[in-house]
Amino acid sequence: MKVAIINFSGNVGKTTVARHLLLPRIKDAELISVESLNAGEGEGQAMRGRQFGELQEYLQTIDNAVVDIGASNVEELLELMQKYRGSHEDFDVFVVPTVPALKQQQDTIATLIELARLGVPRPKVRLLFNMIHSAADLPAHFDLVRGFLKAKPIATENAACHLSANEVYGRIRGSNTDLATLARDTTDYKALIVKTKDTAERLALAQKLATRRLASGVVPELDACFAALGLGSGTATDMMPLPAQAK
Ligand SMILES: Nc1ncnc2c1ncn2[C@@H]1O[C@H](COP(=O)(O)OP(=O)(O)O)[C@@H](O)[C@H]1O
Ligand SMILES: [Mg+2]
Repeated sequence: MKVAIINFSGNVGKTTVARHLLLPRIKDAELISVESLNAGEGEGQAMRGRQFGELQEYLQTIDNAVVDIGASNVEELLELMQKYRGSHEDFDVFVVPTVPALKQQQDTIATLIELARLGVPRPKVRLLFNMIHSAADLPAHFDLVRGFLKAKPIATENAACHLSANEVYGRIRGSNTDLATLARDTTDYKALIVKTKDTAERLALAQKLATRRLASGVVPELDACFAALGLGSGTATDMMPLPAQAK
């Protein structure tokens, strides 16, 4: 299974979806960040044809991949996909996260149009509603993109494929922490807090406890969203080996 996460917009949750929704639930998947292909060559450099060629070749050598396509590279990547005719076939699915902000919905529509222009068939393009506040508000908050899809059904939308706004993503951002592992951590933080005299240390433990509580709340939602994407039957809980307990 090779999944691309794509949107012309930044800040729609591409990296979050790649790391925390998809990577832990697709067995043996490798995370490829297209932004990182430019590492060492300066900020925001466009992806070159050679690099795209390398990405395509590399994708042939692995079975499972989650490819996070940074916003600065999307236009270039789509152009290259047009040039290397049929290269979009390397991906089984394109996940397009979107958020309620108007600009992001417009960019989402532009992304969907571009994918259709490349010839990516509708079942392979899945919309993911991110940063929602309640399932009941979902239809109203995404009426622009949903209205567009009603008129032009070029992507698959499923209201169950959503993630709520949750501060846990911000809390663990930049760390390699996996939410399912975090949720399973059985450290007795309360007991540790009682034993600790140092205020800063207490605060650090309290933050860990809060993050674990948030993680426990969010894992079932991630599992449900993954199931709604219809990529496979696994959940993070039954795919990830239990880690050694952190004490
Ligand atoms: N469901 C969510 N709830 C709360 N914050 C989120 C959610 N999804 C993403 N974020 C936050 O929004 C910001 C942008 O997300 P990111 O995944 O980096 O987007 P992109 O890769 O599309 O630019 C990050 O700070 C991230 O932690
Ligand atoms: Mg990103």
